[in-house]
Amino acid sequence: MDLHNIREDYKFDSLLESNLLNNPFDQFKNWFETYQHLGVKDSNAMAIATVGDDGIPQNRIVLLKEVREEGFVFYTNYASDKGRQLILNPNISALFFWREQERQVRITGTVRKLDEQDNENYFKTRPYLSQIGAAASNQSEAIKDRNALEAKFQKFQEQHPEGSTVPKPESWGGFLITPKSFEFWQGRSGRLHDRIIYTLTDGDWCTKRLQP
Ligand SMILES: Cc1cc2nc3c(=O)[nH]c(=O)nc-3n(C[C@H](O)[C@H](O)[C@H](O)COP(=O)(O)O)c2cc1C
Repeated sequence: MDLHNIREDYKFDSLLESNLLNNPFDQFKNWFETYQHLGVKDSNAMAIATVGDDGIPQNRIVLLKEVREEGFVFYTNYASDKGRQLILNPNISALFFWREQERQVRITGTVRKLDEQDNENYFKTRPYLSQIGAAASNQSEAIKDRNALEAKFQKFQEQHPEGSTVPKPESWGGFLITPKSFEFWQGRSGRLHDRIIYTLTDGDWCTKRLQP
């Protein structure tokens, strides 16, 4: 496999101090909304990295479900690998790659669990099969084979037929990421990319340009 000749040049846009918004949440929303308008599948996907007590980082994709004034919300199983890691060590890094616009956004911060009322409210809005899937899966635990998984799913469907209330599993819920920094990366020609980092200093967001 020869990957040496895969090369892209980036010309879509620039990110200059003169067009940067003061608040990184506004800058995020501005970029995210323009990306969503493209209609790309899973445009709200982000990679989140966590670190377990073994010190080894792990990352995986989750879906961003809400942007609040204080931060970013995603839902998962608190007993999954990521859930357990975040409960022990709330530091997180979230990464968005918006290829079509040659952009990357990197966020670092800490998480806290959403309150149970928020979790219940959101769980109720999920489609029936997503509710069953969440209830039937002990996320990140091993299972014998696919048949065993399907049998478990089927059993939950029989216990909670469509139209009935599927109880939210106790371990299922959301995390709110409270950011400490945001880095916005815009690809530019000749590898002279724009990188602007916002960091929180004494309650105010300060920006710096980083070398690409
Ligand atoms: C497009 C996409 C969206 C996903 N969304 C979620 C999500 O919102 N929540 C979630 O827990 N897992 C989601 N997953 C699955 C995770 O990537 C991961 O496999 C799972 O959460 C188990 O991770 P863990 O074992 O590290 O806890 C998604 C995967 C993909 C590819």
